[in-house]
Amino acid sequence: MDKALSGIRVLDMTHVQAGPTASQLLAWLGADVIKFEPPTGDITRGQLRDLPDADSLYFTMLNCNKRSITVNMKKPEGKEVFKRLLASCDIVMENFGPGVLDRLGFPWETVHRINPAVIMASIKGFGSSGPYADFKAYENVAQAMGGSMSTTGFDDGPPLVTGAQIGDSGTGLHLAIGILAALQHRNRTGKGQYVEVAMMDAVMNLCRVKFRDHQRLNHGALPEYSIATEGRTAAPRSGNDSGGGQLGNAVRCSPGGPNDWIYVVVQEAVWDSLARLVGGEALASDARFATIGERRRHQHLMWENLNDFASSHTKIEMMKLLNDIDVPCGPIMSTEDLAGDEHVRGRDMYVELDHPKRGTWYNVGMPIKLSASAVEIRRSPLLGEHTDEVLAEVLGLDAAEIARLRDSGAFSR
Ligand SMILES: CC(C)(COP(=O)(O)OP(=O)(O)OC[C@H]1O[C@@H](n2cnc3c(N)ncnc32)[C@H](O)[C@@H]1OP(=O)(O)O)[C@@H](O)C(=O)NCCC(=O)NCCS
Repeated sequence: MDKALSGIRVLDMTHVQAGPTASQLLAWLGADVIKFEPPTGDITRGQLRDLPDADSLYFTMLNCNKRSITVNMKKPEGKEVFKRLLASCDIVMENFGPGVLDRLGFPWETVHRINPAVIMASIKGFGSSGPYADFKAYENVAQAMGGSMSTTGFDDGPPLVTGAQIGDSGTGLHLAIGILAALQHRNRTGKGQYVEVAMMDAVMNLCRVKFRDHQRLNHGALPEYSIATEGRTAAPRSGNDSGGGQLGNAVRCSPGGPNDWIYVVVQEAVWDSLARLVGGEALASDARFATIGERRRHQHLMWENLNDFASSHTKIEMMKLLNDIDVPCGPIMSTEDLAGDEHVRGRDMYVELDHPKRGTWYNVGMPIKLSASAVEIRRSPLLGEHTDEVLAEVLGLDAAEIARLRDSGAFSR
């Protein structure tokens, strides 16, 4: 079936998480993504293994719909194969540490000379300029340095990392957007360009509203925070406060297990019906909660009322009760809840796959739904599974030439 990115070929040198999330999205959108791996493979194939000889879920969940080819870039014959593939691809992607491509002999200038129409897309921890440019980075390094950790957690506790992988997968999304923009530019001009996303920059972008609060502190306290903010010079950790124009917080439900909570947004328009549900006429007419300003001032009391009410309802009962009166809310869903959730399954967001070495497994589905380009998710490739196929199909090499390259060590250590 014709897909949004049908006809686009990607030479995907990315590894670990940040880059592969971006190239997997392109593959799901229909691009032919050739995962170009060192002979030992993407390191994640063997990391956090749950089955002895099967590619780890870490790898399989980030590399679906791709073909795998192994090439040793440290051998002249391997570099030759890379150059020829480069000339046949629309996009080359990488997220190596600083200086790796220079050491291999393929900085952007060389890549551009080999194929002036190619788009090269890189993820670096901190980009290619500035005092941090030479540093490596992983997810939590980016969360630490991009403003996320200092604003996550409770005011009296340590900085926390988020469960959402904003440093890696968040950066991958930014890279995919940059690539699509560069493709559009190339459609107009015929020219390729270099797309770079730094993980630290991507996390800062995702923390944008925290810099709103940072600057508001110059003009006084932040009334929506449930902690005192007078005199602060940096956006504080805000616990579960909503961080938006409406008050919000997590409310504990019955029977009190670790995920028996619901997040409730006390939207201005719904206060009257929420108050009536939770505390009847007495709460609805209580002057301490009559306006949003009053509710902010007395929010500890307001949340106490909501917690008392929720203590005799499960989070799912609460979701129904609150949605019935149009109150925005969300039960805290565990991975177990989500894996079995009817809505999630109905939207193909937890999909069953097969794998020659691991059997049945599940991947999180494609969150972007295109009406004319439905996504069919296929398993991740085995290491080097498509080396011969890609060399024959993309480069037009015959069996004798492939054998010659193999003997020269182009595909092995
Ligand atoms: C993630 C990261 C910290 C991992 O560091 P690392 O394991 O030391 O890996 P590097 O990317 O620095 O180096 C890869 C090595 O493999 C080699 N390599 C990669 N592909 C190869 C191939 N096809 N053939 C031969 N060698 C290959 C490189 O030449 C390099 O070797 P060198 O150090 O001798 O130059 C680093 O890649 C990084 O900072 N990346 C950018 C930020 C990022 O994306 N981080 C998030 C990852 S989820």
